[in-house]
Order: sequence, then structure tokens, then C-alpha cells
Amino acid sequence: MIRIGVAGFGRRISSVINHVLRDVDPDIRVVGIVDPDEKGARSRLAECDAKDAVFYNSLDTMVRKAKLDALAIGTRCNLHTPYAIKAAQYDIPLYLEKPVAISMKQATSLERAFRKTHCPVVVSFPLRVSPLCVLAKNYIADGAVGKPIHITALNYVPYGTCYWIEGYRNYEVTQGLFLQKATHDFDYMSYLMNSPIVRVAAMASWGQVFGGNMPAGLTCSKCRKRHTCLESPEYRKRLGEKTADHLCVFGEDCGSPETGINEDCSSALVEFASGAHGIYTQVFYVRGDANARGASVSGYMGTVKFDWYANELHRIRHHELFNATEKATGDTGHFGGDLELAEDFLNVIKGRGKSRTTIQMGIQSVYACLAAKESAETGKFVKVRQVG
Ligand SMILES: NC(=O)c1ccc[n+]([C@@H]2O[C@H](COP(=O)([O-])OP(=O)(O)OC[C@H]3O[C@@H](n4cnc5c(N)ncnc54)[C@H](O)[C@@H]3O)[C@@H](O)[C@H]2O)c1
Repeated sequence: MIRIGVAGFGRRISSVINHVLRDVDPDIRVVGIVDPDEKGARSRLAECDAKDAVFYNSLDTMVRKAKLDALAIGTRCNLHTPYAIKAAQYDIPLYLEKPVAISMKQATSLERAFRKTHCPVVVSFPLRVSPLCVLAKNYIADGAVGKPIHITALNYVPYGTCYWIEGYRNYEVTQGLFLQKATHDFDYMSYLMNSPIVRVAAMASWGQVFGGNMPAGLTCSKCRKRHTCLESPEYRKRLGEKTADHLCVFGEDCGSPETGINEDCSSALVEFASGAHGIYTQVFYVRGDANARGASVSGYMGTVKFDWYANELHRIRHHELFNATEKATGDTGHFGGDLELAEDFLNVIKGRGKSRTTIQMGIQSVYACLAAKESAETGKFVKVRQVG
């Protein structure tokens, strides 16, 4: 039996534990939880954990009393760092949700805390370890493009309204969508280019689509515009979507460009230590078939490009007659990345293998996101702090 203790037993981490980790190893048991919302957390416990899981008031007490083999941190973004710093004191394998920090102060404290620890960490970066990304990386490493000179990475998010409907709308907690979303993409871009991002110039559009002056706390069921609004469950039903009643995406409580609000879309021009450069764009108001997430990496010899939604990879030889297209089968969480992370975490717990998504990778990605955020806010090129 693997005894896991969880700080913040919310939707994401309960789903990772109940549906992915447990699929790989049925012997995993949630034996300790730190979460102020005991009722909500209990409702997410699997049947096999419901009787034995004990709620504690701090991570320290849980570690002292629950005889843990593993720890997981699944709180909202602003609490990842404080809990991870606590966890660093123990050498218990840790699964840490992203972004690992939301400010420079948090990120540098986290880096310091993990300098002297033996606590192994699996950061929840499913894209880096997803089979399609690893396939692309292997082709690039084998010389498919020659020296990688450029990367274009796109993220057209068809479920982007969640960043205005759910807790993610709380800017204090997320600090915007570079940290929330691009943390995955900057990480896998560095992985593919085999080089860290060292400089960023970014732009963002705020308050052009979402946010607005509808009353705070308004939900569709109480809104007089619900018969015509394109975001209401009534309207979405016509498109075949089952959308629940939700907070208004045009509400004043989404924030404002002055007080802080998630961006409708944002883009970054990134420079790598290798001398390569690239572009990244994320768009949050697109729907349906406008979805796209993936990258095109090129060098003089060729191009490797892939898209996770299409589940497809293309290798183009610039100076030969024949090109190749590879199509994947199957459909798993985060394009197979969640399963890979679960395997990695179990390997780390059992001493069979190492993490492919280390705390240093998590922190390096946060440094790139913070540079992008600062650049978008100031209009200046910003150097990216490097771990170590
Ligand atoms: N890796 C990924 O691909 C991925 C996907 C989705 C979400 N996430 C991340 O997962 C995190 C959680 O998202 P979610 O949708 O599960 O949120 P959630 O609100 O469902 O879960 C957060 C949990 O933390 C608990 N909590 C609040 N205050 C706490 C405290 N002081 N101590 C301990 N627990 C506390 C809440 O009660 C809740 O149960 C976010 O940071 C998000 O960015 C990552």
C-alpha cells in the first residue's frame, strides 16, 4: 500500500489520484488531507479512501502522524509555494501542481528551499512528458531539423471561459494566464529546443472580450439577458454543449485592466540561450474547431511540427523528396501526459526512477512566465532569471 497525504484535495488532484495514479497502481490510498473545506474534500474521496482518510490542520502534523510514502499539493496557485517550502523539509516524494509559484518572491524562496533538500518532486507538467511531445523531441535530437533555429508554439484554448467562470477568475490567486497556462508551454518549448528561455518580449489584450460591467456575483439563471447571451447555458445548448449555470464572464468581479484581470489573449517573443528564438501565442475566447495546441520547430534541414488536438506529427525534410506524417490513436488525459506523470511519480516513490519534471524545471518556467507578464505590462524586453 502507498500512503499519500494531500494538501488541497480539490478537483484536479482528486482526479489525478482517483483516476490516473490509482489506474496505474490500485494500492494507492489517501490517508491524510489538509483542506479547510472538509465537506468538499470528502465528497471527492474514492470509496476505498473514505473510511481511513484523516483530516489534519497542517502539513507538518500530517507528516508527523500519517506515516506517509508520498505527498501531493493540489491547492490553488498562490498556495503551491508555501506548502512546497514546508514539504521541502521532508524527503517524501512530492507531486506538485503548477504553476509552482506566482511571484518572484515566491519563486526565489522556493528555489532556496529546494537547494539543500533531497525531496524529489514531480511537477504537474503533462505536456512535456506526453508521448507526442517526447516523439517530437526525439526526432529533433536525432537531427530531423538540423540545429533548431526557430519555434512557433500555439495555444488556442477552446475551453477558455473557465478562466472567467471558475476560481481562476481571481487574479490575486492566479496572477494572469502566462503563469496559469503558458507555464506548461514555455516548459515544453525549452525542452524541445534543449535550451532555456533567456529573454522575452510580450503583449497581451485585457478586457476586450471578457470582463465588463455586469453586476458582481451575477449568474446566468438570474440574468435578464440569459435568452440571448452567447455564454448562457440556454444558448450553449443550441451548440450541443451541456453548460451548467455559472458566474457571468462579463462581470465587474472578473477584475479590470487597472486592478488585474486575466488576458483575453497574449503572445510572447522568446529568445533561447542557444541563440534560437521563437513565438508563443495563447487565445482564450476561441471555440470548437478553432482549437490548437502544439509547435513547429525548424532548422535548415527540416521542420518537425505537431498538434495535440489533431494528435498528429509531421516531419518535413527541406532538401529531400519524402516527408512523413504520424497519427496517434487513443485519447487520454492531457494527451497521455497525466498517465506519464503518474508513472513517473510511482517510479520515484518506489525508487525505480527519476522525475522528468523537476522542481528546477517548474521554477525555470515560472521565471519565464514572470518575465512575459512584466514585459506585457511594461512594453519592455525582459531578461529571464535562470535557476542556479
Ligand atoms: N497540471 C495541470 O494540467 C492542471 C490542470 C488543472 C488545474 N491545475 C492546477 O491545479 C490547482 C487546483 O485547481 P482545482 O481546479 O483543483 O482547484 P480547486 O479549488 O478544486 O482545489 C483547490 C483545493 O484547495 C483547498 N484549499 C483552499 N485553501 C486551502 C489551504 N489553506 N490549505 C489546503 N487546502 C486549501 C480547497 O478547499 C480545494 O479543495 C490550480 O493551481 C491549477 O492551476 C493544473
